[in-house]
Amino acid sequence: MKVGETYYRSIWEDTNAPVRQRGVHIIDQQQLPHRFATATLATLADAADAIASMRVRGAPLIGITAAYGMAFAACVDSSDTALSHAAQVLMATRPTAVNLAWAVQQVSRHLATLPPAFRGEAAWTYAARLADDDVAQNSAIGEHGLPLIAGRDRVVNILTHCNAGWLAAVDWGTALAPIYRAHDAGCRVHVWVDETRPRNQGLLTSWELAQHGVPHTVIVDNAGGQLMRDGHVDLCIVGADRVAANGDVANKIGTYLKALAAKDNGIPFFVAVPDGTFDAAMPDGRAIHIEERHGDEIRKMRGLTATGEVAEIDVLPADRAVANPAFDITPARLVTGFITPRGVVAPGAA
Ligand code: MRU
Repeated sequence: MKVGETYYRSIWEDTNAPVRQRGVHIIDQQQLPHRFATATLATLADAADAIASMRVRGAPLIGITAAYGMAFAACVDSSDTALSHAAQVLMATRPTAVNLAWAVQQVSRHLATLPPAFRGEAAWTYAARLADDDVAQNSAIGEHGLPLIAGRDRVVNILTHCNAGWLAAVDWGTALAPIYRAHDAGCRVHVWVDETRPRNQGLLTSWELAQHGVPHTVIVDNAGGQLMRDGHVDLCIVGADRVAANGDVANKIGTYLKALAAKDNGIPFFVAVPDGTFDAAMPDGRAIHIEERHGDEIRKMRGLTATGEVAEIDVLPADRAVANPAFDITPARLVTGFITPRGVVAPGAA
């Protein structure tokens, strides 16, 4: 998608360097929405750190970053032992989004079929293929989601939570892909953007939508229920970090409450997901590991000062107890359907 007049993916290779010495460029999402900055990753440690610190974030994107992390590792030491160590380092960064483990396993399985001498370049080729495939899948999600929005002769109000846009994937995004398609097709859409405390990923969603000219309004996380009651929401579309075999959905904390409110108000609640987000080995949501993040994400807030600098302030004394679960589980019974690259399916069929 575009930033100003320039087309960007959220991660791209430095094609000026020979494959084995290549880095990848990322958009540093810690700086957004206050500053647009890019950074370069060139080692396994760089990739792991970018994922853990959330300079890259969103389930599909952390998967692709991890795939490139495997490529960095394979170019240094392509032995089975070294690759297994790299896989462990990457998978330890964030536990909830299955796309990360999925991508690492895809690369590992592919490299295991090859002699070590070929693994470095093969890992790059494979990571690039996963990145391109992510774009194709999200584009297809957009096409399949479009009919849910199109065909109404009025503004369609869509509520979304967190950021499941192109910043969270390689391009298009998942939940935002149908919205971008609808906007581009001339449908009148308006997006209610949950702020998504404590990391405020809604501000990334707002930034993205503004770059693309999509009308939207940022709301505090607790506003959605009342907006639904008042008839201001036509449908909800969110992304997911993991979907269990029975259709239970792990997504950003607060998703569950939105799904409950949608159910109570008869509003369709859709979850947009690429293939790598389905975890067939997880029977239901109960065993999904919910990441607990540092309490300082609640105690502190970042923003722009009057002089234009990015600064952090304390909003809670350091000694105050906080709990910071980063994801929740929405039971399948609250999900109207999954928007997948192959079409919209009911939870039981997903
Ligand atoms: O903690 P984050 O910002 O990585 O969480 C992101 C989400 O919860 C997204 O909704 C999810 O990964 C889907 S992104 C297409």
